[in-house]
Amino acid sequence: MAKTRVITPEELEQQEPFKEQLRRFYEQRQPGVAPLAYIRTYGCQQNVADSERMKGQLAQIGFGFTDKPEEADFILFNTCAVREHAEDRVFGNVGALKALKRRRPEILIALCGCMVQQEHIAKKLYQSYPFVGLVFGTHVQHRLPELMVRTLVERRRVVEIPECDGVITEGIPAERDGTFKAFLPIMYGCNNFCTYCIVPYVRGRERSRDPEFIIAEAKELVRQGYREITLLGQNVNSYGKGEAHGVDFPELLKRLNAIPGDFLIRFMTSHPKDATPRLFDTIAACEKVSRHFHLPFQSGSSRVLREMNRGYTREQYLELIRYARKAVPGIAFTSDVIVGFPGEQREDFEETLSLIREVGFVSLFTFIYSPREGTPAAKMPDPITAEEKTAWFQELTALQESLSAERLQKLVGTEQRALLETDAGDYLEARLAENSVVRVQGDPARIGEYVTVRITSARSYIVTGDIVD
Ligand code: SAH
Ligand code: SF4
Ligand code: F3S
Repeated sequence: MAKTRVITPEELEQQEPFKEQLRRFYEQRQPGVAPLAYIRTYGCQQNVADSERMKGQLAQIGFGFTDKPEEADFILFNTCAVREHAEDRVFGNVGALKALKRRRPEILIALCGCMVQQEHIAKKLYQSYPFVGLVFGTHVQHRLPELMVRTLVERRRVVEIPECDGVITEGIPAERDGTFKAFLPIMYGCNNFCTYCIVPYVRGRERSRDPEFIIAEAKELVRQGYREITLLGQNVNSYGKGEAHGVDFPELLKRLNAIPGDFLIRFMTSHPKDATPRLFDTIAACEKVSRHFHLPFQSGSSRVLREMNRGYTREQYLELIRYARKAVPGIAFTSDVIVGFPGEQREDFEETLSLIREVGFVSLFTFIYSPREGTPAAKMPDPITAEEKTAWFQELTALQESLSAERLQKLVGTEQRALLETDAGDYLEARLAENSVVRVQGDPARIGEYVTVRITSARSYIVTGDIVD
């Protein structure tokens, strides 16, 4: 296992002179006017959390933030590589900035994150997108000020994607997007090498933050009034493995649960091969831990699961679900599933459908397999046509829709605790602990509060209810 290297506050101090240089640079350019940054984040919550920390660094320099790229002095795309579609969107949206750069040559356009951590992508960007000034990978985000200085002050195009693995940065304040829901990374990287997945290559080896830092951050979030804290990692169930502190995921949950206050602890993602009966027993004993569990199964066929290198069989997955339902009454599951993995046959796909029927998920994130350069699955024979895969995908989505509708119908007449999340204009959206959204009438000033909702109707995905207190 790679040795974890914690970037300490002392090491972060080395960025201070660069921040000062940037302050002077922008002050000279436009005296008395704060520069503006536009940050666009693709991909998963991990990327959202990274962007919040990069925003923290920019705020320290004196940046303000805008959601209009044409107003910005600094444009940063934090990219995702998980499927081809994600990468295509980035290329398209970066291409669209060319005209802006021509009009305002002084702006700095930068790309970072998982997609650019791949060398062939970084090369393509450097060659084909000359208006992109700075490209940096997933292991050097704490050096953002230094990289900006090298690009802006020293007037060079910079590509920085070192393989320097095992980095954990502590001490960068997050500039959070939400005011009552917060992401809290507990670990980084992945060691599982599912054969279809690019994440281990672009995020490096698995490493866990020290529990002291996590608990301190959680306490601070609760103090600030956050109502939901989502713990993040590619496989939270292996939290702490290989680290000297000896705290594993169930133990971490217990310690977080012990923080006083009215808040909910969520987490994602859990890997079935590392979800243990002890984890479910812990959840049962921790009243602040959400009864919603995101547990990706990827395929219902043990043969395909083996080809995916997932480390469990269909039977083991179902056994885990049975145990969880016994240990934690009312637990609700969501999941991820891939359709059209190389070599998947109609029989395999039908096993996926039958698993979905058997478990009864609240909702599913469904993906058509997308080959990723450098992963073992990309080299496997894949005789099923794209049309066939699309047809299977639609069949699966239709099945889940009808199951979800049936499930939601059963909620009608019940009372549920929910967090008022969004003002949709005609109604407010409240999220149930199990992750479904309910439309209610209420005062937008109450957003961020917990309420009790009586569910009055459920038509396909649209659930409505009344606030009863
Ligand atoms: N670490 C998490 C998921 C990370 S990626 C886990 O193991 O569950 C999120 C989801 O994207 C995965 O669960 C998977 O369903 C999907 N995914 C990953 N690589 C993919 C690929 N090459 N093609 C299609 N879907 C993919
Ligand atoms: Fe990818 Fe598998 Fe790691 Fe999840 S566990 S990030 S799917 S390699
Ligand atoms: Fe995408 Fe990277 Fe997350 S590849 S899904 S942003 S870890």
